Amino acid sequence: MDLLKTSSAAAACGAQRVAVPTEAEEVSAFLLQPNLFGTPLTPGEREEFKTHPVAALGCADDGYWFVRDAAGAICAAIGVRMNVERTGIFEVSALAIQAGRRGRGLGRRLLELALAFVADSGGRGLLFETSSDPSYAPMHKLLTDLGFKQVGRFPDFYFPGEDTLWYYRAIER
Ligand SMILES: CC(C)(COP(=O)(O)OP(=O)(O)OC[C@H]1O[C@@H](n2cnc3c(N)ncnc32)[C@H](O)[C@@H]1OP(=O)(O)O)[C@@H](O)C(=O)NCCC(=O)NCCS
Repeated sequence: MDLLKTSSAAAACGAQRVAVPTEAEEVSAFLLQPNLFGTPLTPGEREEFKTHPVAALGCADDGYWFVRDAAGAICAAIGVRMNVERTGIFEVSALAIQAGRRGRGLGRRLLELALAFVADSGGRGLLFETSSDPSYAPMHKLLTDLGFKQVGRFPDFYFPGEDTLWYYRAIER
């Protein structure tokens, strides 16, 4: 699958990269709204969604992109960061589409944008950590459709009964 350049991938879904603190705060509020995800956020996710969009400002390897609806409200967001080892594997820190805007290709285009960003950054691949809960079935299917392979599963990692699934896609050169 050929990857677009980051700017073309962003234009394809009308996404803007978070560039100023007010946008970072809006993205945090969007991600922290109740019931956006199919399961409760973990304490670590709440902390990350609160602090990482602003912390990523000015950082070459970490970034957030968002899409606004016709009324100007954020209706979709994705976050990407390099792994803690800083060795060229990137991770998606957040991906969510407002419920009323799902099923129209926005999630796919934002994930394509993340892949484009990793490729343009010289990264080796993109890791996506998601939940085993059945409410994440659309996410699992989307990942498979975009060439990600499930590379791991950690039982009860999020909460008892809710496993973490790791999906990975290498960036071909
Ligand atoms: C998962 C999510 C990001 C997908 O975004 P989306 O904009 O609805 O997805 P798209 O319209 O781009 O659909 C892409 C693919 O996802 C799959 N998909 C989307 N909605 C689906 C559904 N309701 N059931 C099954 N598969 C679905 C399909 O494979 C679809 O491809 P297709 O249209 O060619 O069949 C979105 O549903 C969401 O925000 N969910 C809640 C938060 C979440 O689960 N985030 C994942 C974080 S781990």
